Order: sequence, then structure tokens, then C-alpha cells
Amino acid sequence: HNYCLILAGGKGRRLWPWSREMFPKQFIDFFGTGRTQLQQTYDRMAKIVDPSHIFVNTNVEYLDLVTQQLPDVSRERIMAEPIHRNTAPSIAWANHRISHIDSDACMIAVPSDQIIFNEEAFKKNVLEGLAFVAANNSFLTMGVKPTRPEPGYGYIQMGDPQEKYVYKVKSFTEKPDREFAKMFMDSGEFYWNTGLFLSNVNHLREEFSRFLPPVLRSLDEINVHASVQEEENYMQEHFTAYPNLSVDMGILEKSDHVSVMKCEFGWADVGTWHGIYEALPKNNENNVVIDSDVILDNCHGNIIKLPKGRLGVIYGLEDFIVAEKDNVLLICKKEDSSDLVRKYVNETQMK
Ligand code: GDD
Ligand code: MG
Repeated sequence: HNYCLILAGGKGRRLWPWSREMFPKQFIDFFGTGRTQLQQTYDRMAKIVDPSHIFVNTNVEYLDLVTQQLPDVSRERIMAEPIHRNTAPSIAWANHRISHIDSDACMIAVPSDQIIFNEEAFKKNVLEGLAFVAANNSFLTMGVKPTRPEPGYGYIQMGDPQEKYVYKVKSFTEKPDREFAKMFMDSGEFYWNTGLFLSNVNHLREEFSRFLPPVLRSLDEINVHASVQEEENYMQEHFTAYPNLSVDMGILEKSDHVSVMKCEFGWADVGTWHGIYEALPKNNENNVVIDSDVILDNCHGNIIKLPKGRLGVIYGLEDFIVAEKDNVLLICKKEDSSDLVRKYVNETQMK
């Protein structure tokens, strides 16, 4: 009864200019390993659940990329959203489809923008988590110990212990401002949310009926015998009316039935330049150079990612991002990147 949903519909804006709205980060072989982030996510999950139980949801704009990159995932297991509505509606739809295939299914939703360093430990935690949600009506998230006051993540306040490694969630705060992130971290009571969510399909349905009733009512109008094509035609009409809401804000922040598993599988988010810098090994001068031909002289604390074939020499630079892709070059202070990117990412020539 174990199923996996890979979330692959994000725009990946914070990793601009490497990640572009037409070609977001999950479809890129960012580290030059020969497999894209999406493919690596699939490979990892196919060792844990039956590959024929892996579903992918994405935006219709990226449907071709998904089918090209994951030829083993049949079209019925891909859900193409007609418009970007963030993860709450997309998980609700996937939950609906999976529950019709198996009414006792347990599902793990996995983002496609993460690195897992210890796959054995990860597998063990996922299987334990799936067993937990098979036995408990709880929405389970995987948490890791924070290592810096990063405002871009969700913060989980640990409550009472429930089972080995599993705790009740006392409170959840998605993307706090920097001050709160620091307070949360210093208190020692909070874990980072990895965005890896588990639930049985019936409980998840209940959570959506409590917090997003119009979405659930709309999903329930789909004929149980509808083909995938008919279902997608229906969505073409109705998905726009669904709220633009992440599952973190839509359910995690509100529900009382949330648990967290303390995990130690070595986790990093590939969502931002700063996140990648923190996660990867540094050279002697604390620079991170990703698959790029560059000579650094008297440089410290930088992250560099240049296109194949570009040769670079950089002298005397400290704590910067230098990233070039196609026609766009970004040079900025590491900590300024998110705001800056938000400001320029919509310029048409740079999309
Ligand atoms: N299908 C689909 N549709 N997928 C989406 C959509 C959508 O509209 N929007 C985002 N996704 C996918 C992304 O591609 C990514 O794999 C995943 O859902 C999470 O979305 P992000 O946009 O990357 O979320 P985030 O990084 O801001 O925050 C989440 O992850 C953090 C850890 O990396 C939250 O869960 C945070 O609480 C968490 O700390
Ligand atoms: Mg992310």
C-alpha cells in the first residue's frame, strides 16, 4: 500500500539564473552527475517503493520535460496542472487519484529539489514513516536539526513523544522572518521541515475536507470512472478556482494532527544559492565551485556555477554568488540573492 508522489511543478525562481521559469531547477543536472534533480529523486524513491506506485505532479508547461526525463512513469501516473496553484491543491488532487487506485494507500510526497546524503538512513526513515501513517491518522513530516537561522524553511516546534523518533508537533511556522528564525533556532526546540510529508490517503482527505472544503467538494465531483484525460479536462476548468496555497500554510500550520519524525539522513535543500553553498563541501578558501572551470585567486566564501565551456578567472572576491546560464549572468552578495532575484526574475529577457 506504499505510494510516492514526486512534486515537480515548482518554478524554482530562487535559483535563478540557472533555474528558469521555462526550465526550472528540478529538470537540470545541476551537479554534473548525469542525472537531473528529478531523476535523482525518482531513482532514490524507486529503491523504496514499487516503481509502479510512483506518481509525479507538475505544471502542464513541464509535462514534456517530465515524460522525457522519466520514461518509466506512465502517463496515467503524471498529473498535469493547468495553472500554478502551489502544493496544497496539487497534493489534494494526487491524493484523490491515488485513493481511487488503492483506498488503503499510504503516501509520501517528496519535493524534487533536495539532496539526501545518506540514502540507507533515508530509506529506513521513509519505511518507518509509512508504517507510522498506516497505523495512525496523522500527517507526518520529516524534520531535521537546523544548522543556521534560515528564513526560507518551515520551523517545527517539537511536542510530546509518540513513538521512537516521532513527536507531536506543537506548532509550525512556515518561512518566519529572520529574527524569528534565529529565536527558533537558539531555543533548541525547533526542527526544520524538510517538506517530505506522509499520510494515509483517508486521513489526508479528512485534513483537506477540514481546511480546503471547496477543493475537496470539487474533486468529489469527478466521476470515479473518469479516465485520466477526462480528469485533466475537468481540471482545465476547475483548477483555476483552487486557492494558491502551499500545504505548509494550508494544513501544517493549522492542523492539530501533525507529527514529526526526527531524521538524520543528511538533508540539504537545492532551492537557493545560499542553501547549496551551506550544504556542499568547500575548498580550502571556503569556496564552492560547482562543475565549473574557474581559477579563484584570493577568493573566499563564494559559490560559483558557470556554463560548460566557459573559463573564468576571479580575483579577490568574498562571499559572492557568480552564476551564469545562457544569456544571463548574476553576480551578487550571497545573502542578498533572494530579494534581488525576486526583483529581476520577471524581466522578460531574463525569464
Ligand atoms: N506539482 C506542483 N505544483 N509542484 C509544486 C508546485 C505546484 O504548483 N509548487 C511547488 N512545487 C514543488 C516544487 O517543485 C518542490 O519540489 C516542492 O513542490 C516544494 O516547493 P518549493 O516551492 O520548493 O517549497 P519551498 O522550498 O519554498 O518550501 C518547502 O520546502 C522547504 C524545504 O526545502 C516547505 O515545505 C518548507 O516548509 C520547507 O522547509
Ligand atoms: Mg524548495
